[in-house]
Amino acid sequence: MSAWVPHDNQPLPPVPSPEDPGAAVDKINVTNSAVVLADRYGDEAVRAHCLRVAAWASELAGALGISEKERKLIERSALFHHVPQFLMNEQARVRLLAEMRVSEEGQPAFVPDEVRQVLAAFQGLQPITDAGLARIVAVLEISDDFDQYFESQPLFDPDPATEDECAASSVQTMMSYLQVTSRTDINRVIDRLPVFPRAAREVIKHAANPEVTVHQLEAVASKDPVLAGRIIQTANSAAYSPMQPIGSIPRAIGHIGTDVTRKVLLGAALRGNFASMQLHQLWNHSLDVAQSAEMLAGESSLGLDPAEAFLAGLVHDIGRLAFSIMPVAFLERFNRLTDGGCPAVEVELGLVGRCHGDIGGETLVRWKFPEAIVQAVRWHHRPERSSVPLASLLYLAEFLCDADEDLPSYVRLEMASKQAGVPLSVVYRVLRKGPDKLESLRFAA
Ligand SMILES: [Fe+2]
Ligand SMILES: [Fe+2]
Ligand SMILES: [Fe+2]
Repeated sequence: MSAWVPHDNQPLPPVPSPEDPGAAVDKINVTNSAVVLADRYGDEAVRAHCLRVAAWASELAGALGISEKERKLIERSALFHHVPQFLMNEQARVRLLAEMRVSEEGQPAFVPDEVRQVLAAFQGLQPITDAGLARIVAVLEISDDFDQYFESQPLFDPDPATEDECAASSVQTMMSYLQVTSRTDINRVIDRLPVFPRAAREVIKHAANPEVTVHQLEAVASKDPVLAGRIIQTANSAAYSPMQPIGSIPRAIGHIGTDVTRKVLLGAALRGNFASMQLHQLWNHSLDVAQSAEMLAGESSLGLDPAEAFLAGLVHDIGRLAFSIMPVAFLERFNRLTDGGCPAVEVELGLVGRCHGDIGGETLVRWKFPEAIVQAVRWHHRPERSSVPLASLLYLAEFLCDADEDLPSYVRLEMASKQAGVPLSVVYRVLRKGPDKLESLRFAA
């Protein structure tokens, strides 16, 4: 979501709230601040949109067997498709420069002629006279509509009749050409995910309970050498630096406290699912989101449970495990599109019609997780479609962790902040987090 801040990597300016004593005195309201943001970051948002349209159009052209030369032309046309009309029109451009007393001696034309022709046809300013041009324009139109569909999603209510069916025609068209995996294949992939071990379920039952006793935690940790090792490793880590090395579970729990012990046990029980090298970063990100979600829950006016939020954060991207074991043809296409600037959620929906939130929710049903966590994970990228505040809380936590998994949306961020009971001014304050107390659970970067 940091795509909103590409200029200088500064976080979004806080939105002043009437309850916040530190709010700006001019009482700028949310609608106005959204306008200010659009003004400040608008150019970047349009540029990012053009890059995404170019990536989708290139992929679609490849799938349609369009020649390499035409594909390059489509890519360049997509990159220019929001350039203002007067820059497209050679006479207007020359006149403007003359008015400005600017010389362009020796400069190449701002927009190449062939691109200008494509865009004139794309914008309906010129008739389409041959089949080749018609095909190029169609690819651009589908790609542009497709990206706009995702950009406008937070503004419109979902249609319950078509939910999960990717009803928008641009999505359906894109999928029909780019799909390399059927829905049945996806279900097979979910079937191949590891079964959640009964022992781990036991750990979660105790460790997710904020009322758990020290004796119960000791009993849980003692049953498994991996869990015991993680508790002792944490107690001896730099964050807790004991006077003497600690070698027993009771002493380790006494040193780090029951709260941290619970979190270490939860993390240790789930970490094994992210053992392969390419998933290490995803696990470290899950730890970040878990800690942010826990902090945000503590700030929520709805009294959300920080322990439940922590667990939800640990498993929020579990659906990405399924995407990591998809067929090679899918992974190649996925990587090309994400490398081209398209966020993961948009690519997942465009290529298979389901996103990792949806698939994660289904995985957690199979793993017998509580319903609130299942729903939170299922809707964590579309929190406006869920009445579960935890879904919105996870959305905010993803935002704090700069996940960039979806298109940035100020509208959605604002809705999530209301639904989670955490004002945006508080969200930005949580952004400045303290030392990492769960370092021992991380994979090396
Ligand atoms: Fe566009
Ligand atoms: Fe995430
Ligand atoms: Fe996610």
